[in-house]
Amino acid sequence: MDDRRDTAEIGLIGLGTMGANLALNIAETGHKIAVFNRTDSRTHAFVEGAGDLAAMIVPTTDLAAFVAAIARPRRIVLMVPAGKAVDEQIKALRPHLDPGDVIVDAGNSDWQDTGRRARALATEDLDFLGLGVSGGAEGARNGPSMMAGGSDRAWSAMKPVLRVIAARFEGAPCVAHLGPEGAGHYVKMVHNGIEYADMQMIAEIYGLMRDGMDRTATRIGDSFARWNEGPLASYLVEITAEVARATDPDSDTPLLDLIRDSAGQKGTGRWTVIDAQTRAAPLPAVEAAVTARVLSGAEDLRQQGAEMFGGTEPLDLSDTDLESALIAGKIIAYAQGFALLSTASREEDWSLPLPRIAEIWRAGCIIRSAMLDDMAKALNEAPDAQLAFAPAFADQLRAHMPALRRTVAAASAAGLPVPALASGLGWFDTLRQARGTANLIQGLRDRFGAHGFERVDRPGETDLHGPWNAG
Ligand code: 6PG
Repeated sequence: MDDRRDTAEIGLIGLGTMGANLALNIAETGHKIAVFNRTDSRTHAFVEGAGDLAAMIVPTTDLAAFVAAIARPRRIVLMVPAGKAVDEQIKALRPHLDPGDVIVDAGNSDWQDTGRRARALATEDLDFLGLGVSGGAEGARNGPSMMAGGSDRAWSAMKPVLRVIAARFEGAPCVAHLGPEGAGHYVKMVHNGIEYADMQMIAEIYGLMRDGMDRTATRIGDSFARWNEGPLASYLVEITAEVARATDPDSDTPLLDLIRDSAGQKGTGRWTVIDAQTRAAPLPAVEAAVTARVLSGAEDLRQQGAEMFGGTEPLDLSDTDLESALIAGKIIAYAQGFALLSTASREEDWSLPLPRIAEIWRAGCIIRSAMLDDMAKALNEAPDAQLAFAPAFADQLRAHMPALRRTVAAASAAGLPVPALASGLGWFDTLRQARGTANLIQGLRDRFGAHGFERVDRPGETDLHGPWNAG
């Protein structure tokens, strides 16, 4: 293996699908890159498969040679599984590094871990950048959307490379320095939360067409393809059409019908929901999506339930209603995500640039969609206002909510599950009710636990009680 010294401008550890693609992307933009992987065979295979780009790659088989191959101050990108592997890799690297070197964690790390790592490395004058990278394998290779958090020095060191490898929206690179420490990974986590809700709502609309309208996967794919030409234009709707229309070559039937209905998760959706609840800034559409994924895994229970209570009624909904329902649901899911970002930004003192986040999500990432351009504009006008109430989106919700209402009602009457769409509707209806029903909750809490309440006719007086505890 090559152990040329100081020849690479940057280094990357972890040649899994994402790491390998990111390394090729970096090499293609003219940066010589040193690479290292836990298993040498993968490093060999990577270089062999790199074609013309192999000349830009410095393969190494031990960490000392890897570090020595990178020009100082070193920039080292980690693309290893989130969690323990990141800590282990940093620990192994540390003795080889010099003050001013920069480590970039480009995995889906927990934002709190990123903060902890950044603070620990800072004590040795090492810089750390927590980089949320979205776009899957294709994005990593051709241009991802990237959300950076860390010191100004780490950002300055990485900015030139990140700007050239990023996806572009109308020429502008989809990467930004969003704040210190874990800010970038936090934003990526919320991105994934929105991704969960977006996918779940799409899957629910698919389910209504499959189970309530007796449509084939191919025909369902055609509807999504058509919708992708309108306000729903987005990567997820586009690939839904592709996935639904795909044929299994062995059986010549729609592949989608053969895929097991149990979805996995790596954790970012669940983290989003937990974090949101701890900040009292809940995102019910994401909660519903995370729950739906968990329940998708309870196959035996669902089988038992189907035998005991199964059966659905046919559904009478137009394609226009389904499209509209998805538009409304999508606005709600994104609005909930941006509201969480706004709360976290305030609480963590990050000053997250919300319009900029919408801008860098317009290309490269999994939730890229035409709608994000309008969201960026709305957030530019009122960064901390509830996005669903911004004039452009309020108008859209007025137009599309009736269809979401009809869809949820019809699905419910037919016995078909639409938990994310229904929770979006519930959230919206809660927010348009000036006088809610928590007066009863307060009355009950006081009745059973003397928790106290306030009265609308006696402003300023607190800890009042009802007559029930008098005697
Ligand atoms: C992206 C994706 C990507 C990945 C996540 C989510 O933005 O490119 O979010 O990071 O798909 O790991 O995966 P799970 O669905 O397994 O949680």
